[in-house]
Amino acid sequence: MASITDPSTYEPITENLDEVHKKTGFRTYDVFTNWLNFTVTALSRNDDDYLDLVHDLTDRLHDDDDLIRDVLETYGTALGALVNTMEETTVPGYPHTAELLGGIYEHYGANSDAFGQHFTPQNVAIAKAQMLFSAPEGIRDATQKDPITISDPACGSGRFPFHAVQQLRHISPNTPTVVVARDIDKTCAHMAVINFALHAIPAYVVHGNSLTYETWHVWRINHPTRILTDSTANGVITELDPDNVPIKTDFEEADGSAQDDTNNDSDLSEGNVEDAVTIDDPDTIENVTLDAFSE
Ligand SMILES: C[S@@+](CC[C@H](N)C(=O)[O-])C[C@H]1O[C@@H](n2cnc3c(N)ncnc32)[C@H](O)[C@@H]1O
Repeated sequence: MASITDPSTYEPITENLDEVHKKTGFRTYDVFTNWLNFTVTALSRNDDDYLDLVHDLTDRLHDDDDLIRDVLETYGTALGALVNTMEETTVPGYPHTAELLGGIYEHYGANSDAFGQHFTPQNVAIAKAQMLFSAPEGIRDATQKDPITISDPACGSGRFPFHAVQQLRHISPNTPTVVVARDIDKTCAHMAVINFALHAIPAYVVHGNSLTYETWHVWRINHPTRILTDSTANGVITELDPDNVPIKTDFEEADGSAQDDTNNDSDLSEGNVEDAVTIDDPDTIENVTLDAFSE
C-alpha cells in the first residue's frame, strides 16, 4: 500500500497526463485542467458539454482523429489510475484515504500565487478534522432534513472537508452530512467535485468568490442512492442553476461579514486553519437538506 509521503504516489496518474503532454505539445497544466474538465463532464453525463470539449480538442489537434482518440483513451486510463491509487494510498498513522488531486496540481506547479494557492499538508488537514470531530458524544443529532453541514469557503482541492467527512464517518458512520465548498478558481472547484464524487460525499461545490458571493457555477454531488434508484438522475454530479440552490450565492442574503472581510483586507488565501472549515455555518448555508440529493 503506497503512502502519501512517497513521491512516486502520483506516477500512475501523471505518467498518463505526461504522455498526453508529449504527444500533443500542450502544457502540462493545460493537460491537467482539460482532463479535469472531461472528467467532471463525464461524471455529470452532460453530453452537450462533452461534445463541446471534444470539438475544442478536435480544433486544437487539427482534426487528427487517431490522436484525439488516443488522448481521450489516455484520459480514461488516468481516471482509472486515480480511483485505484486513491484506494491504495494511505496517510501514515490515520484511517483516511489520501487526497491526491491537490498534490498533482502542485506537482505541475499550477498554483496561483495571486490566489494564495498553497494547500494544507494532509496530516494537518486530518489533525483539524480530528479536532472538529473528536468523539461521537460531541456530534449533534442530525437528520436527513437537518444534516451536519461542513463549509469551506476557500476549498482548493477540497482537502479539508474531504478529511472532515472521513473523520465523521469514522466516529459516527450514520450521521447525515452535506459539504458546501467554494473556490474562486474553476480548476480547484473541479478537483473538489471529483474528490467528493469519487468518495460519495454529498456536497455543493461552488465556483465563485466567497468575499463577494459572486457565483459562476454550482455542482451538486448526488447521494449514491439517487443514482441507484432514479433512472432519470443525471449522473454522479448535477450542475445546477446558481440562482436556484439552497446555499447563499448572493451577498444580500449573507449577514455582511463577508463584506466586512473585504474592507479589512482579509485574505482567504492565507488559509487560516481556524477559519478554514466550519460546521453548520448559517452565513453560507440555508435550508440544506439531504432530500435534494436523493429525491
Ligand atoms: C491557501 S489555499 C487553501 C486551500 C485548502 N483550503 C487547503 O487548505 O488545502 C486558498 C484557496 O482559496 C482560494 N481563494 C482565494 N481567494 C478566494 C475567494 N475570494 N473566494 C473563494 N476562494 C478563494 C484559492 O483559489 C485557493 O484554492
